Amino acid sequence: MADIDGIKQEKQKNFFTDVPQAAPGFFLKGSHQYDWGLKNRLSKVFNPKDGRTVMLAFDHGYFQGPTTGLERVDQTILPLEPYADCLMLTRGIQRSVIPASTQKAIALRASGGTSMVSPMEEWEGEIDGKKAKFARPGFEPLSNESTALNIEEAIRLNASILAVQVFIGSAYERQSLKNMTDLVDAASRYGIGVMGVVAVGRAMARNSQYFRLATRIMAELGANVVKCYYTEEGFETITSCCPVPIVIAGGKKLPELDALKMSYNAIQQGASGVDMGRNIFQSDDPISMMKAVRGVVHENLSPEQGYEMYNDLKSKG
Ligand code: R5P
Repeated sequence: MADIDGIKQEKQKNFFTDVPQAAPGFFLKGSHQYDWGLKNRLSKVFNPKDGRTVMLAFDHGYFQGPTTGLERVDQTILPLEPYADCLMLTRGIQRSVIPASTQKAIALRASGGTSMVSPMEEWEGEIDGKKAKFARPGFEPLSNESTALNIEEAIRLNASILAVQVFIGSAYERQSLKNMTDLVDAASRYGIGVMGVVAVGRAMARNSQYFRLATRIMAELGANVVKCYYTEEGFETITSCCPVPIVIAGGKKLPELDALKMSYNAIQQGASGVDMGRNIFQSDDPISMMKAVRGVVHENLSPEQGYEMYNDLKSKG
């Protein structure tokens, strides 16, 4: 198989990390041949001045319920709305809490159907002499998602882009890819984008080799944007061989300076923005953190300058 051969010959690959991919006629990577409506929607998600975005992710409730920091979205997230380029959310929160007068792009959660307490059987074993964790297919692990809205609903809610979880390497890999390609087929009829979200199963390593595989598969199958985690090693090879924009997820809460360093490094290594949740809304001072992240993404602040901005704003209350 080509992929397995490729993995064996890792050192022979050339990712051309020093050669940016050309995007003639449109500011966004890989998007220059789309139709007008899709380009216009993507121009709301990504700022045309720099091709970057700060997406505020608060869709966690779709499988986690009232996540810490999201117990009352009206109290904790609405004050952050002015500083986001795009709001990543569920249709339930959009209708019940977000003012319809918002001018922000909407990244609408379009997959779901299982929860963090879904029944599953897990056990530890070994692969090639190394310890590994397994989840038993058929016990509905978290990866057993479906599409969770139809395209008419996405149009009613004026979505710019639909977010769908894809579980490469999991028991439900095929099904989650089918969810994504079904959404791409439906959304592309109306010029709405699709963002494939790399969901890492417990048995998968969070390294650049895995994210290259996952992001490239999603792009090849039609995702307009791909979201994945940052890797300390080889992140530039992920962005380089993915032909569409990559945004990074924030992941679990980090100290503010570390989250700013991660954002900075991701942007410098080819990411088109961040889609960040907990590192903003679980911060001691979410508005100051949001502004600092914006500074790093849109104003090329260094992490240290961003952190100084964060502390300065925080001290002024
Ligand atoms: C999780 O599956 C959700 O899609 C979140 O939007 C995503 O994980 C980003 O949020 P965070 O920065 O908290 O990881």
